[in-house]
Amino acid sequence: MKYFFILLLLNLSFLEKASAANGQPKEGPWSEYFQSQINARPHDLVTQAFGLIKNKKNATIIDLGAGNGKDIVNILKAGAIVYVFDADPESVNIIDKRFKYYVRSNKLLIHQMFFEDIKTLPKADMIIALCALPFMKKDKLMSFWKIIQESLNPNGIFVGTFFGEKHYAKRDPKQPKLFRLSREEILNLFTHFHILNFYEEIEYDESSSKSWGSDQFDHRYKIIARKKG
Ligand SMILES: C[S@@+](CC[C@H](N)C(=O)[O-])C[C@H]1O[C@@H](n2cnc3c(N)ncnc32)[C@H](O)[C@@H]1O
Repeated sequence: MKYFFILLLLNLSFLEKASAANGQPKEGPWSEYFQSQINARPHDLVTQAFGLIKNKKNATIIDLGAGNGKDIVNILKAGAIVYVFDADPESVNIIDKRFKYYVRSNKLLIHQMFFEDIKTLPKADMIIALCALPFMKKDKLMSFWKIIQESLNPNGIFVGTFFGEKHYAKRDPKQPKLFRLSREEILNLFTHFHILNFYEEIEYDESSSKSWGSDQFDHRYKIIARKKG
């Protein structure tokens, strides 16, 4: 029994190494989130934004920080070309498996990259950045924002979210850090855009408030904007 147990342990560590060698990513910082969203439908904001694209079949769409790819399902079905940029190997792996057909037919191009390392993006009719940009290094946001603006064709659509100044929720210290922006800072990002939808949501986070012993909020800005022509 004892030998069997030791053998089992040896086998497990062998399997772990073998899967790392096979390029199978281990559980990462976003694993739990990706799994919780596995059956999620595309976010309403993205559906609404994609509805503004006239020639969907010939459109080029970029999803920054695509996670498990839930937001590109209908976009791919509509025939658009989709570029995905995400730093997380697990995200890239899930998307590659989930949308194999589109990868094979060159309709989906996946790039495992940190936003901070991106020097240029393809020309696009729409850029999605849902719950993604606030996790990059804050001091790199403005230079990346310039790249986003340059990538968008005239009248191109940006759809994305940012955390507001009151966003505080108890987080595991191992989870990636996030930054918050004031309403004014967010509006300043959009001087070369017409803002079409600007939602500010602030929700009392009861469980975080209890565990912190002080009031915690989920404070988000959700934006759809059209680049000036
Ligand atoms: C909270 S998840 C959001 C996923 C998806 N957009 C959604 O709304 O379900 C954040 C995603 O952004 C990616 N991400 C975070 N920081 C990044 C960075 N600096 N560069 C590239 N990707 C990043 C993560 O890997 C993750 O897939």
